[in-house]
Amino acid sequence: MIGSPENSAGVGRAYSRINDGRTNGGRVRPTYARCRITPTKHRGPTCRNFAEGWRSSSIRWSANHRRRCPASWRKETLRKTIPAFRNGTEPFMRGDFERLIHDAERANFSGWDFGFLRDRLIEDPLPWDYVRRVRQQLPAASTMLDLCTGGGERLASLAPLPQCTIATESYPPNAPIASHRLRKLGAVVVQVDEETQNCFGPSGAQDGRHPRRGLPLADSSFDLIICRHGSYSSEEVARLLRPGGTFISQLVGEDNYPDLNSRLAGPRTVWIPPGSPEPPTLEEFGLDVLERREAKPQSIFKDIGAIVYYLKAVPWQIADFGVERYLDRLRHLHEEMRDTGGLRTHYHRHLVVARKR
Ligand SMILES: C[S@@+](CC[C@H](N)C(=O)[O-])C[C@H]1O[C@@H](n2cnc3c(N)ncnc32)[C@H](O)[C@@H]1O
Repeated sequence: MIGSPENSAGVGRAYSRINDGRTNGGRVRPTYARCRITPTKHRGPTCRNFAEGWRSSSIRWSANHRRRCPASWRKETLRKTIPAFRNGTEPFMRGDFERLIHDAERANFSGWDFGFLRDRLIEDPLPWDYVRRVRQQLPAASTMLDLCTGGGERLASLAPLPQCTIATESYPPNAPIASHRLRKLGAVVVQVDEETQNCFGPSGAQDGRHPRRGLPLADSSFDLIICRHGSYSSEEVARLLRPGGTFISQLVGEDNYPDLNSRLAGPRTVWIPPGSPEPPTLEEFGLDVLERREAKPQSIFKDIGAIVYYLKAVPWQIADFGVERYLDRLRHLHEEMRDTGGLRTHYHRHLVVARKR
């Protein structure tokens, strides 16, 4: 028995049940995982019977459980109960194809939180530290704009925020998530049209103060504008920054995880078709670029579940991706990854730091 209801860290009855091999009138007799979650807090149906889950290749932990029960505890519990774990073969690494896919498909993704990929997508660090660059500018900024905030996770991690902090988000499901997260920190989220992220800037075709591609914010309002993994119009950045204001962006490059596309034979998204004009630069709108860097550090997807989760969360990596459509290719890649220890590739980032004259 791993831990009984009575000895589970003094927090009441643990909820996750582990099969100890005995049965009870044909039913699995539960023992209890070391888990702090009380039954009342722990409503998800997913880890009700761990043993059954294991047999049917569908071990899943509710989002609530994942948040509250440290991974190390779960692993410890697994190690003591599941033979594969005792032998040092971690199910997350060596699990069967169906279970990995199933888990990835069912896993929660909200905002821009990739916590599910921790320990499963391993990346070398970038040669710069975006968060540190932004933090260095915060004391001098009383107004800040975060473009494309996603679920507001990164912006929240920068707290305390400048007195007036605004974040834009265009993807409708994200706006309320970001708003809920950032409201407590005094920041305001503005839901904007996705065309405002068009790097070609406001369209002249429309009348009005803020045409479709323009952000509904006043000129020269911000001491600091930041943009991480989004996209922006140089013209709008220049319009919104006050003279002397700073712009810091870290964008995803086009050569991001290229091996996902090549190994799965998935089409690459073309953002700007060949032969099209280049988007206007920050310099063209009166900014001095202080720093421009590019990096392609190594990364490794450790299992096929991590790949499926990523491709579902980031639909533009392989635009026509779907598990059913790619099933044979995923299975083939899974076999290879089992032998090689994962899919090795690289990610691609650009850093730009600029100041308005
Ligand atoms: C990649 S997220 C980055 C969020 C945040 N700045 C960060 O660094 O964590 C930026 C943008 O991706 C877009 N986005 C996110 N999920 C999307 C989805 N499923 N479909 C379309 N666009 C999405 C939204 O426009 C969002 O503002």
